[in-house]
Amino acid sequence: MSKKKLIHLIAAARPNFMKIGPLYHALKKEKLVDPIIVHTGQHYDLNMSDVFFKDLNLPTPQIHLGIGSGTHAEQTGNVMIAYEKILKINRPDLVVVVGDVNSTMATTLAAKKLDVMVAHLEAGLRSFDRTMPEEINRLVTDSLADLLWTHSYDADQNLIREGIPHSKIRMVGNIMIDSLEMLRSKIENETFSSRFKTKNKKYGIVTLHRPSNVDNIDNLHKICDVLLNLSKMISLVFPIHPRTLKRLKSNGFLSSLKNSQSLHLVEPLSYIRFMNLVYNSSLILTDSGGLQEETTYLGIPCLTMRPNTERPITVQQGTNRLCDVENVITYAEKYLKRIMNHSVPPLWDGHTSCRVLQSIKEFLCI
Ligand code: UD1
Repeated sequence: MSKKKLIHLIAAARPNFMKIGPLYHALKKEKLVDPIIVHTGQHYDLNMSDVFFKDLNLPTPQIHLGIGSGTHAEQTGNVMIAYEKILKINRPDLVVVVGDVNSTMATTLAAKKLDVMVAHLEAGLRSFDRTMPEEINRLVTDSLADLLWTHSYDADQNLIREGIPHSKIRMVGNIMIDSLEMLRSKIENETFSSRFKTKNKKYGIVTLHRPSNVDNIDNLHKICDVLLNLSKMISLVFPIHPRTLKRLKSNGFLSSLKNSQSLHLVEPLSYIRFMNLVYNSSLILTDSGGLQEETTYLGIPCLTMRPNTERPITVQQGTNRLCDVENVITYAEKYLKRIMNHSVPPLWDGHTSCRVLQSIKEFLCI
């Protein structure tokens, strides 16, 4: 009997877990592969990591690198050093990395330096903004990966333009829709959103954590003013990311937000609670990557407070609109009034993990 192929699934930060989840379950059903979850520890708080493993029914990671926070170089270097040790002891047949966080790039670098095969899920996304740390992570990861799984035609085109051979690229669709569909009944049965929904009264959700929005005091000040104004139009639920909470506290902005009756500040939420909130919301104001896609799938207006997006399909086909702090209110007024025309991009259908599994089987000849 042939030996099982060892596959490392790299999980590191909150947006990675819902991408690893459906893939782990699909691989676990396959007799000839042995999926091992490697958690780098980039996110470590209970509500930024553990709750996602519980919601997604994932086991405790078999390997935990325990890296934690640091500067970009510290975090990247520490992940590389720790993961190289693991690779030398227990060499996998394939390393699967997802998304664009520092650990995605660091584990790719460590693996490729040892000539271990790497596959990148969510490859080819480009904001063309190299001031974003994630754009650097995407460029490095995609240039080194052996197999690139994309979720849209524009991602394929970006890779081809960069000289990546067609033979390495597979369009597999959007894995996050798999998580949504996998947990749909639990999300629908969750009651968290009822705390914020009053009779006929809608609410919006705010999530902000990008350094470009929250690390600059002037921007953050303007954003806080906009949130207070927007909350007069529609009540808002704001699950605060640890980076954002730190900045709001250190700049003395937290108390004015707390004083608003219609702005509900909550801790970071679990996947099921958060998606339940999203399902029942009327508007999202965000700088997240994943939410731009989830709202496009669900048909909910999404205002992305960024000058660019690596996910243009969510603007062209979906319900996402880029905005800056100055035009949030105008956009919110417009999109709260009218239904947005939108369509769901091809292969955002809840079956991406099956296509990834098929691609892995072909790649590893099993
Ligand atoms: C990281 C990713 C970003 C992703 C985001 C999702 C990079 C460069 N950035 O940004 O692409 O959108 O995750 O959340 O990889 N902290 C905690 N507890 C935690 C994790 C972080 O308190 O569990 C605090 C620490 O003070 C840390 C700060 O948040 O210094 C930032 O964390 P970090 O992982 O460096 O970046 P994120 O802003 O979370």
